[in-house]
Amino acid sequence: MPLSFKHLTSTKQLLRKDTDSIVQVAAEMEAVLKKGGDNRLAKKVLASLFYEPSTRTRLSFETAMLRLGGSVITADGFQFSSLYKGETVEDTITVVGQYADIICMRHPEQGSADRAAAVSPVPFINAGDGPGQHPTQALLDLFTIQKERKRIDGLKIAMAGDLRYGRTVHSLSFLLGLYKDISFVFISPKELTMPAKVTDFLQEKGIPFEETDKLAASYDCDVLYMTRVQEERFADHSEYERLKNKYCLTAKPLKGKKVTVMHPLPRVGEIATDVDALPTAAYFRQVRNGVPVRMALLAMLLNAA
Ligand code: NCD
Repeated sequence: MPLSFKHLTSTKQLLRKDTDSIVQVAAEMEAVLKKGGDNRLAKKVLASLFYEPSTRTRLSFETAMLRLGGSVITADGFQFSSLYKGETVEDTITVVGQYADIICMRHPEQGSADRAAAVSPVPFINAGDGPGQHPTQALLDLFTIQKERKRIDGLKIAMAGDLRYGRTVHSLSFLLGLYKDISFVFISPKELTMPAKVTDFLQEKGIPFEETDKLAASYDCDVLYMTRVQEERFADHSEYERLKNKYCLTAKPLKGKKVTVMHPLPRVGEIATDVDALPTAAYFRQVRNGVPVRMALLAMLLNAA
């Protein structure tokens, strides 16, 4: 089924029929990956523009393109880019759109992805715009929840850590808003609560959520989505130092519980390594799901699904 959009900048633009078909095509891509890939995107070029650090997102986008037989051109590192010379996002995208068939971009400014999509001559995918959105992470999170729990409807989802600056939890909350009988528990220090853009959205849709600073509120949920305190977003570094060690999830309270533990990674102390051995620790499986989900998106946006 064709997607309802040409560019992906925010999970708010997705319809349920889009997420259903992305999840279905991603499952097909897992079978393609088992045989090492195919050549459906031969002669297609992905431009991968990363103006902020990335390991997983960039490598999984590039892997996804290569596994489908396509090629990748890349510009990473602020200092090597024309952004450094003062070029606008609009001009950069207009230029890169002359070379590539599809573009993914990570950029430190919230809203930069919408500006890019407004001028992009080829399909554009937001790979993270500052504290704004990270829609492909949310899609792989959704795919992971579906695989781990065999359903999405009816789940109680806890999100913990830096809910203020963490773009992954913003994108995932909007996306889960497409499903039935979802409820949320938002766990953070009061300085890092979920922004109004998310809580207003949930209120408008009548989706229940609780807010607390107690990690224990998550132990009886279906999913616990932990996040890193986003050091790079703090204007005052001492504030980061004060808040960074607020939560550390350990294995003990999770023993015998069914809560699926997720994290977009990197973790920097908020999940102890003893959690890794629990069968419910899903974060390394979650990472793996980034490739088939991004293969699905690239193929669908290039009409090759
Ligand atoms: C996340 C991001 O970049 O927003 N990482 C990722 O894409 N896997 C989360 C983070 O950096 O904390």
